[in-house]
Amino acid sequence: MASSDRRGVRHISICAHACSRQSNPKKEMISMNKTNPGVALVTGASSGIGRATAIALQSAGFRVFGTSRRAAAKNSDGLTMLACDVTDDASVAKLVDDVLAETGRIDLLVNNAGMGLFGGAEESSLAQAQALFDVNVFGVLRVTNAVLPTMRRQGKGRIVNLSSVQGFIPAPYFALYASTKHAIEGYSESLDHELRPFGIRVALVEPAYTRTSFEDNLARPDQLLDIYDAARAGMNAVVRKAMEKGDSPEVVAKTILAAATDAVPRRRYAAGKMARQVSLLRRFVPASAFDKSLRKQNGLPV
Ligand SMILES: NC(=O)c1ccc[n+]([C@@H]2O[C@H](COP(=O)([O-])OP(=O)(O)OC[C@H]3O[C@@H](n4cnc5c(N)ncnc54)[C@H](OP(=O)(O)O)[C@@H]3O)[C@@H](O)[C@H]2O)c1
Repeated sequence: MASSDRRGVRHISICAHACSRQSNPKKEMISMNKTNPGVALVTGASSGIGRATAIALQSAGFRVFGTSRRAAAKNSDGLTMLACDVTDDASVAKLVDDVLAETGRIDLLVNNAGMGLFGGAEESSLAQAQALFDVNVFGVLRVTNAVLPTMRRQGKGRIVNLSSVQGFIPAPYFALYASTKHAIEGYSESLDHELRPFGIRVALVEPAYTRTSFEDNLARPDQLLDIYDAARAGMNAVVRKAMEKGDSPEVVAKTILAAATDAVPRRRYAAGKMARQVSLLRRFVPASAFDKSLRKQNGLPV
């Protein structure tokens, strides 16, 4: 239903009841206007980039629901935290039902939950690689597919997917992680074309090294091979150093906020100075020079 207030500000009030079969008819009406951009769902909001993003979105006026696998995660900083494991269909379905029961709508989905895996590509079992894809790729598909019927009904929605600079450059000793982010790049850009007719846009955010718990939470290969010990240790030192100098999660959160609120979103947003530089180099430096520079930067023999 549309109405105007005394200042002529147009409000679109959507009765939550009308939007969802699961919704509670007694609950509030969500009033959408410029100062209330709506309801945001941020996966992986217990720490790092997700946490900073949830706080930034809340400051920008969104009503924010964050997730963590830990059911006991505190509702702190004014955020509503809900339990969700993105690798579990039932958990994702319940998450979306719970948000809809509370608000009746979802205007923004930030697919942030993710994890890394550091080691030679050959050093992970297929099961370990599949487990990584289940979080970083199929987790994104699960949550997106669960939210899309609501966004289509609304005729409006924005999805921001966390990629990485490793989603568009090679990443030795992060090959499997980089593969998940390359997959997210292809998925997101293609999905954006499919969803435009429904008023839904998809954007990618590409951070470089960011100071979060990411490094502490990195999975390690489950079938180590001695042959890679020296190169892996060398890369580990490079990564540690780069992480120390990395961006703060707030820098990435600011970029995610832009991707979430730009009237016409770009397809991809490099987050932070380093990511912007890498993005430019990838586009404009000849492939052979880029290849050499990447090996040098990572301490690999050129
Ligand atoms: N830090 C970097 O250098 C960097 C660079 C580029 C891209 N990124 C991307 O940024 C995103 C956030 O990473 P971060 O750096 O903020 O790392 P982080 O501090 O380790 O946060 C990861 C978040 O993901 C959640 N998570 C992990 N597995 C999950 C699962 N199966 N189901 C639901 N939630 C899960 C965690 O929640 P719980 O543990 O509470 O469940 C946590 O909130 C990731 O997609 C990552 O790939 C990070």
